[in-house]
Amino acid sequence: MHLRDLDPNQPAEIEFVAQRMRDTLIEVEGAERGAALYTQTWLEARVRWHLDPANTIARVVLAVTEDNTPCGHTIFRIEHDTRGAFGLISTTYVLPAFRRHGVAQTLLECAETWFTGHKLPRCCTWTSSTNHPLIALYARNGYEEADRGPNDLTDTMMVQLSKALRRL
Ligand SMILES: CC(C)(COP(=O)(O)OP(=O)(O)OC[C@H]1O[C@@H](n2cnc3c(N)ncnc32)[C@H](O)[C@@H]1OP(=O)(O)O)[C@@H](O)C(=O)NCCC(=O)NCCS
Repeated sequence: MHLRDLDPNQPAEIEFVAQRMRDTLIEVEGAERGAALYTQTWLEARVRWHLDPANTIARVVLAVTEDNTPCGHTIFRIEHDTRGAFGLISTTYVLPAFRRHGVAQTLLECAETWFTGHKLPRCCTWTSSTNHPLIALYARNGYEEADRGPNDLTDTMMVQLSKALRRL
């Protein structure tokens, strides 16, 4: 397995990431609610939004097997709030057959390295308070809960997992 950026000229790769975003919603929110939240078309547009530098400074990174088949992905970008710029990891997914082999850990390290290269002082992600695998992954990497609140669309309690980044 290795990581590479999604190829914007390969619609199948954009489709893969959008489908996995949908699978994440189903896994975290349940089949009925998760599937109803966003259409495949909307999710593909969301992936494309991250690929256009006119919108945001971001990367869509795939984990691929030796034969170049995607088995996971993450999307991360630079965001701003009242305290300034920070790194946001917006989504991560690993196909069930490839889990517990360190794929998500490698994707997280990739995001942190990129954030550090952009001299961002901190980074975070948001997830459901019941997403124990993801919370465990971030906890072992030094993240702590920094905020929480209900998702406006689903009423699910969301937690922000955040950590300070070391300067290079
Ligand atoms: C959460 C997820 C990304 C983890 O992917 P993964 O590649 O299996 O994770 P890794 O193998 O890199 O795990 C690294 C560490 O995270 C923790 N972890 C990962 N999955 C875990 C689980 N199911 N239960 C408990 N801890 C877990 C462990 O500390 C693990 O180390 P270990 O395997 O040595 O115990 C994956 O389960 C997934 O895709 N879930 C559905 C999508 C999702 O919830 N995405 C986040 C939405 S915001």
